[in-house]
Amino acid sequence: MARTLLVCFVLISLECIWCKSSIRRFPDGFQFGASTAAYQVEGGWSEDGKGLSIWDVATHMQPSPIKDGSSGDIAANSYHLYKRDVEIAKELGLDFYRFSVSWTRILPNGLTNKINKLGIAYYNGLIDELLRNNIKPFLTIYHWDLPYELQKLGGWVNPLVTEWFVDYAKVLFDNFGDRVQLWVTINEPKQICYEGYGDVSKAPFINATGIGEYICAKNVLLAHAKVYHLYNDHYRQLQNGSIGISISCTWFDPASDTFDDQQGARDARRFDWGIYAHPIFSKDGDFPIEVKRNIAYKSAEQGYSKSRLPVLSNSEITFIRGSSDFFGVNTYTSKLAYRDASLDEMYPAPSYSDDIGVVITKDPSWPQGQSNWLQEVPWGFYKLLMEIKDLYENPLVFITENGWSTAGGLLDDDRVRYYRNYLTALLDALNQGCNVKGYTAWSLIDNFEWKQGYTEKFGLYQVDFTSPDLTRRPRKSAYIYKEIIRSKQLDL
Ligand code: NOJ
Repeated sequence: MARTLLVCFVLISLECIWCKSSIRRFPDGFQFGASTAAYQVEGGWSEDGKGLSIWDVATHMQPSPIKDGSSGDIAANSYHLYKRDVEIAKELGLDFYRFSVSWTRILPNGLTNKINKLGIAYYNGLIDELLRNNIKPFLTIYHWDLPYELQKLGGWVNPLVTEWFVDYAKVLFDNFGDRVQLWVTINEPKQICYEGYGDVSKAPFINATGIGEYICAKNVLLAHAKVYHLYNDHYRQLQNGSIGISISCTWFDPASDTFDDQQGARDARRFDWGIYAHPIFSKDGDFPIEVKRNIAYKSAEQGYSKSRLPVLSNSEITFIRGSSDFFGVNTYTSKLAYRDASLDEMYPAPSYSDDIGVVITKDPSWPQGQSNWLQEVPWGFYKLLMEIKDLYENPLVFITENGWSTAGGLLDDDRVRYYRNYLTALLDALNQGCNVKGYTAWSLIDNFEWKQGYTEKFGLYQVDFTSPDLTRRPRKSAYIYKEIIRSKQLDL
């Protein structure tokens, strides 16, 4: 008896040691990176032939729509300081650096009748500097800075945008595809569509809620799929890269155990990111049934002759389905959702919760970041990854953004805690079989946080925006991230 007990004890202990090390260690080949976006870091807004984007125009409006009245005119001045940025990426030991290209630096009026050689030269310089330092360039084709000339023609609600986007992407594949093997077509469709053409919180600040965001959603999906097929058919064989889309995914948890709230939270997830992910990653393609049903029902109630959600034809469904080599997940936080029947009566929507019929709230006990919308909920990240695995047959996932905002100091213990807890959740999901291949911290350096200007800081490196040379300094989180990357494990 005593011997049996001893054997059991030894076996359990061994298993625990094994579990711990397998849970805490990242698998071989797992890639770490950090991310920025052109408008948020580059500056040089009107230099060397660059044309105007919707953010250039918005930030120069009076009164300013930006909290501190600032702009990305200079930002972190990466247009001139990109070598220092690469040095930072090197200091951190990154496998890759995710950055975006400014459409109007390449095509000043958005179209290919005029290509700006100096714009091409800038990105050649950045890409070559990364490669010299053994860091893979991970290029995002579109991160929100639409050419203003194309906005004048309707921007993302004009179906022609899909052609404009393909022409632009072709210029990038032709010029950079010999050295870039990781591509994201479009960053965060919801923020482009719902926030740009719905709730007026991002450029072009057009208020067409309940309609604009859905027309935009269809155009974004088609634009993405066209560029995917262009790459697949004409460039992949020669360039041998991967191309996907980055979708911002929030976990919505039911506010209670009731059936109603569980359904409400599920519907919120479908509206928040399923509307973009389902057509690409689900077996059947098309918008999620929950989204189609809710909008059709609301539209009929409101007297429209057909649903405000555009239809995807069978050939469009086939064209979009499977058009991504990986699921780029941008994720930061979680929210609570509960059903409220009284919302059925309300139109126009106070928020997109109207079309979903749910109220979205937060739990005040969750740690709060500097950004109003950002709370630390690592278990929500875990649930998100498990749902993606279950819904979409375990696709290859790249975490293309994850990070935490502070007021800006160098001793950012809350960011350290956030990264550790989110990476632990990621390891838990990996242990459950999720197919996650890489992780990207947002952000490499402090930058222009859209409507919040410079009031919220996400950088692993602090940027001193008051110093003439925009000095970059590592935060505590930079040292910790560096150590995680070096050791490929969490328990340091
Ligand atoms: C996601 C966006 O892609 C990025 O531009 C933004 O700065 C971060 N979220 C933080 O809000």
